[in-house]
Amino acid sequence: MTSQTHLAVAVSARGITKTFGRGEAPVQALRGIDLDIAAGQVTAIMGQSGSGKSTLLQVLAGLDAPTAGRVWLGQKELTGLRDEELTLLRRERLGFVFQSFNLLPALTAAENIRLPFLLAGGRVTAERQAWIDAVVERLGLVERLEHRPSELSGGQQQRVAITRALATRPEVIFADEPTGALDSASGSEVLALLRTASVEDGQTVVVITHDSGTASIADRVVRMHDGVIVDDWAGGTAEQIAQRVLGKAA
Ligand SMILES: Nc1ncnc2c1ncn2[C@@H]1O[C@H](COP(=O)(O)OP(=O)(O)OP(=O)(O)O)[C@@H](O)[C@H]1O
Ligand SMILES: [Mg+2]
Repeated sequence: MTSQTHLAVAVSARGITKTFGRGEAPVQALRGIDLDIAAGQVTAIMGQSGSGKSTLLQVLAGLDAPTAGRVWLGQKELTGLRDEELTLLRRERLGFVFQSFNLLPALTAAENIRLPFLLAGGRVTAERQAWIDAVVERLGLVERLEHRPSELSGGQQQRVAITRALATRPEVIFADEPTGALDSASGSEVLALLRTASVEDGQTVVVITHDSGTASIADRVVRMHDGVIVDDWAGGTAEQIAQRVLGKAA
C-alpha cells in the first residue's frame, strides 16, 4: 500500500458500513471502509459485480447515507447533514457522470450543459461561460451544441455529460462506469478526457470501472471484494497500473 499522505485529501471515509434491508435477509453492501481520496488525482474503483462499488460511490458523494461511519468532503462532514444541505453541497461542489449519461432528452446539448446553473437559479457568468466554452472546445462538441441527445452518438452524449459535470468546476467528479455503454474507441476517448481534467485542471476524479483500460488512466486503483477494500495501489506508471490490473482482473 502506497502512502497518500503527502497529498491533500478531497474525500475521506471512516468506518463505512451499509446494510440494505433488515430482518431475514439483510445485504451488507459495505463492511467497513476507510478511504482517503487524494485531491487532483484519478482514483479508480474496481471489483466484481456486487462488490459494493456503486454503493461506496453513492455514500462518498452524499447521495446515500451509510448505515455507520463518517464521510468528509474536504473539511466538511457530509454524514449527518440534512437533505437540503446535501443537495446544495452536491450541486455546488460535486460533479457526476453515469453509465446512462443522464441527459434530459428535451434539452439541447448546450442546455443540458447549463442545467446545473439553471437548477441553482443562477446566471451563467461571463467567466463561467468562457470556461464552459473552453471545455466544449476541448471535448469537440462545438458543432453539436444545438443537437438533442437523441441526435448524438453515445460517445458524444457522454462528452456532453462530462462537460456538464466539469462546467461548475466541482471539487470532485464521481463517475460510475462512464464507459459502460460505449464502444472501446469512444470509451477510451472519454477516459482520456477525465485524465486531462485531472492533469490540466487539477480535477479530482473517482471512477468506477470493470474495464482495465479505465484503470490504466488512474493514479491509484482501489479494488473491492464483498464490501471491503482488498487491494489499494498507487504510484506507478500507467503501464505498471495496467499490468497490475490485467494480472488481477476481476
Ligand atoms: N437499493 C438496494 N437495495 C438492496 N440491495 C442493494 C441495493 N443497492 C445495492 N444493493 C446490494 O448491495 C450489493 C452491492 O451493490 P453495488 O451496486 O454497490 O455493487 P457494484 O459493485 O456497483 O456492482 P456492479 O458492478 O454490478 O454495478 C449487492 O449485493 C446489491 O445487490
Ligand atoms: Mg455498480
